[in-house]
Amino acid sequence: MKKLIFPFLFLTFTILQVNSFRKRSIDLIAAHGLISDNKLPRDITPNSYNLKIHPYPEFGNFTGSISINATVQQKTKTFFLNKHPDLIINQLKVELVSVSEIESKTIPIAANELVQLDAEWKQVKKQSMMSVELSSDVNAEEELNIYLEFSGFMYNNTSEGLFRSTYVDAETKTNKWYVATFLRPNMARSLFPCFDEPSYKVPVTLTVVRPNHMKTVSNMPLVSSSDPNEYWVTDMFQTTPPIATYSLAFVISELKSFSHNVSDSEVYFPDIRMKVWARPDFLPALVNVTSKVSKSIQFLENFWGSPYPLPELHIFALPNYQATRPSDGWGILLFKESELSSKGTWHLTQELVYQWLGALATPFWWSDAHINNALVRYVTAYTTLNINEDETYWPTTMLYSIYYEFSKRYPHGKNTVIKQDSLSAKTEMVFRMLNYTLGECTFKHGMQRFMADRQYKNFFADDIWSSLTEQAKFDKTLPEPITINEIAGSWITKDRLPVVTVTRHYHNNTAKIHQRVYLRERPHDVPDQEKFLWWIPIVLVHQDKMNFLNTTPLTWMRREREIEIKDLPGKDKFIVVNPEEIGPFPVNYDIENWNILAKFLQTDQREKIPVYTRAKLLHDAWNLAYAGDLSFATALNMTLFLKYERQYLAWDPVFTLIDHIGKHIDSSTVHKKFQTYVRILLTPLYEELGEEPKPGECEGISNLRRSSKIFLCQAGYKPCIEEAQKAFRTWRDSNNPDEGNPVANQYICPVFKWGAKEEWEFGLQRIINFPFGRKPNERTYLLKTLAGCPNDSWKIERLLNITVLEQNGNFTDNDIYLIFSMLTGSANGYTTLFDFLKKNWDVIKARFVEKPMLWNSIITSATTAFKTQEGLDMVSELYLERQTEFGNADFVIEKALKHIKEETKWSNDNLPIIEKWLDNYLKENQANIEA
Ligand SMILES: *[C@@H]1O[C@H](CO)[C@@H](O)[C@H](O)[C@H]1NC(C)=O
Ligand SMILES: *[C@@H]1O[C@H](CO)[C@@H](O)[C@H](O)[C@H]1NC(C)=O
Ligand SMILES: *[C@@H]1O[C@H](CO)[C@@H](O)[C@H](O)[C@H]1NC(C)=O
Ligand SMILES: *[C@@H]1O[C@H](CO)[C@@H](O)[C@H](O)[C@H]1NC(C)=O
Ligand SMILES: *[C@@H]1O[C@H](CO)[C@@H](O)[C@H](O)[C@H]1NC(C)=O
Ligand SMILES: *[C@@H]1O[C@H](CO)[C@@H](O)[C@H](O)[C@H]1NC(C)=O
Repeated sequence: MKKLIFPFLFLTFTILQVNSFRKRSIDLIAAHGLISDNKLPRDITPNSYNLKIHPYPEFGNFTGSISINATVQQKTKTFFLNKHPDLIINQLKVELVSVSEIESKTIPIAANELVQLDAEWKQVKKQSMMSVELSSDVNAEEELNIYLEFSGFMYNNTSEGLFRSTYVDAETKTNKWYVATFLRPNMARSLFPCFDEPSYKVPVTLTVVRPNHMKTVSNMPLVSSSDPNEYWVTDMFQTTPPIATYSLAFVISELKSFSHNVSDSEVYFPDIRMKVWARPDFLPALVNVTSKVSKSIQFLENFWGSPYPLPELHIFALPNYQATRPSDGWGILLFKESELSSKGTWHLTQELVYQWLGALATPFWWSDAHINNALVRYVTAYTTLNINEDETYWPTTMLYSIYYEFSKRYPHGKNTVIKQDSLSAKTEMVFRMLNYTLGECTFKHGMQRFMADRQYKNFFADDIWSSLTEQAKFDKTLPEPITINEIAGSWITKDRLPVVTVTRHYHNNTAKIHQRVYLRERPHDVPDQEKFLWWIPIVLVHQDKMNFLNTTPLTWMRREREIEIKDLPGKDKFIVVNPEEIGPFPVNYDIENWNILAKFLQTDQREKIPVYTRAKLLHDAWNLAYAGDLSFATALNMTLFLKYERQYLAWDPVFTLIDHIGKHIDSSTVHKKFQTYVRILLTPLYEELGEEPKPGECEGISNLRRSSKIFLCQAGYKPCIEEAQKAFRTWRDSNNPDEGNPVANQYICPVFKWGAKEEWEFGLQRIINFPFGRKPNERTYLLKTLAGCPNDSWKIERLLNITVLEQNGNFTDNDIYLIFSMLTGSANGYTTLFDFLKKNWDVIKARFVEKPMLWNSIITSATTAFKTQEGLDMVSELYLERQTEFGNADFVIEKALKHIKEETKWSNDNLPIIEKWLDNYLKENQANIEA
């Protein structure tokens, strides 16, 4: 698993990063914020482009010409084209073509006669657009031929627009150039003037000029080439089907290719020519690509009910490719070398899905592109799950992250990338919900209906929902008069998710089901909560009929606040609502139902509840408790089954929860008991997994081992600390420790946290003596751990004395800033910082008088993180005592006090319950509280 782009997904450790998640391409919109283009007026629309490009790979510039066949839609004198300001226009010619001999046109002309119009162009200020002013009006239905000659420069350092780069040829040891395109989302305008919006899909006839020792491939097959003995050879390609400007692509290079091996029985590729291109010496690393691609394509053709739409498919491992996501021209995909040669098929499949959804059927505008991306993500997951077994964290990782994000008081802050990505993830989960509730067959046939209707054309988001509705009506899988448009609309238009509460009435076998906005972080005073209502599928499983395969909803909550369901089992049997995370929402129950579930999970029948549902029950219980909607005693009971649980998916939510709860109770006496509980929970698991990976084990197990080890170390597990100290000793024993650090990062924090005085002091000396020339990020890491890890206050005091009071010249302002922020990670850290500030107030104030940023930072770090009444009292007292002296940090402390009050309320409500539960648990497990 690689790093995912959701920044909010990571467990919020300051130093340790536990899990790593699958990386995904940055989506069209996410990568560019919201595209704020002005739409082109539709007075004139294109019918086709005849485009010629002549790049000069070695000079880095290019020339070109384009002939645009366009139709006038509305009488006008001016029209607009997209054109990047850096693209140079050398010639413009506009001709009126008479399509017929109809009278009353601008100028009376005979059929097919061309009349040149006077035309002048201007760059539109601050826009990637040019305006063309004609000498006289043109009328609706008239046909224009717009001809332009232009030139420009290729991108050298980035892989966008028309770009070039080099690589070293292994055989000749010489530098080789290549030229390639990446025109998404709106970079075609930097290569040629055009109607650069996805809704203008027209056929393109492309001609490319290249040096005779290179080769060009493009979207379509080659039709003809000019004399190969001349240096510049002109290649003409078949006219494309109607195509969005961003789908156009070509590559000019000396890379080599192979086709699929026809004797390979796995390869399915009846009519299409597929080629994989790379440096000759890299080709062997790509031997498996063709069979992966053909598997995915076969599955996708079946899914969409429509064949791969083009005659050729070229897949490149492009040396020095810089873009964060692959370039998905239609029929021509560009990957980083490492990405194309990597294991797994996720990336490859995702780009192949775009060949249908995006290229064949194209979103009308950027707002529809958002739905397009979400559906691509869903279909990619669907395909990968069906054709190979290794992609197993989907969808829980993503679900947990959107649960966290949308239940915040201010979801995704002001960060548009996070916003686009979490909205996209949510929509992906809505597709998943529809697949489950309508049934796989209806969903697939609905998608086929959609594709048949919109191929070679554009679509609006509503077209997808409408096709699904029609199919569901046809299959009778959706009760009249419900439409998918309504259902989907209720989920994707809100920056929120619902929580469903099930309250059973055991005396008459009914239950009340209630929906409201899911809020986790406190306070929960979000305005207009009462206005939020969703269409929610109620899928229900009874203990006496444990069929988790039937995912048809018992009923839908039709934007109703509350409904009643009947005919439930008796009071000793549980029910589960929304099993397998069918809909993206958490579910709360009455305490009796939770307790029956907790008991059942501890029996050997446990696995009758599938693993995703086990994980969900655990995740929901803890998070609802965290939010204040469920007693922690009940939530903690739900962890008891973990003693027997060995499936990594069920453990997936546990580490985040330990982290979140651990932070909250860090400062209290409960903390030690909690750490003991964590050790009791994880030690048997870790010991059973063993320290070393077993041959052939899956990634999930490796991640589970890594996470349990990190958390055990944090909780003071002796064998781990000893191992770390042993590794650390090699550094202390080395002759010249300032030359480099032989200790793996994972060992450093445990040593500074639990280790001896000398060990920490040794680390401090390494910072002070850190030589120029060594990598600064090694120093930063060391400093972060020195400040962020210790359990003892004196280590932190020592660090503060040296840096703030003694102003040791080896530490910069940035270092001090970093130390302050690291100290907020633990109660010991911020309490020590607070005491230090209080004790040395006047000196620190004087030191920072010229450094308001540092003053602000120390006040923030020393006050904001408290979570208990005791902390609240301390900070309030300081505030009273120094009220007039906070200066520019005044607002900080006021905000801090408000925050601490909220946290204190949490602690008062929950800590006694947690402590009581832990006491009981530890007694039963006869644990010794001291590590
Ligand atoms: C491209 O660059 C070369 C070398 O600088 C120059 O001679 C040539 O005129 C340029 N061509 C265009 C169209 O700018
Ligand atoms: C321009 O496009 C129209 C509509 O597709 C077509 O009828 C016409 O023949 C084209 N004109 C030329 C000169 O290709
Ligand atoms: C690429 O390099 C050429 C030649 O060094 C330079 O003239 C041109 O401005 C560069 N192009 C871009 C887009 O930076
Ligand atoms: C190709 O797949 C085979 C079978 O899965 C595997 O053993 C081999 O290592 C793969 N080769 C490359 C270069 O990835
Ligand atoms: C789609 O729904 C079916 C049940 O109808 C389920 O078996 C399948 O796993 C679902 N697929 C995905 C990828 O959600
Ligand atoms: C079942 O009992 C609850 C609570 O007493 C009551 O509100 C509900 O109306 C009853 N339902 C039926 C069908 O009797």
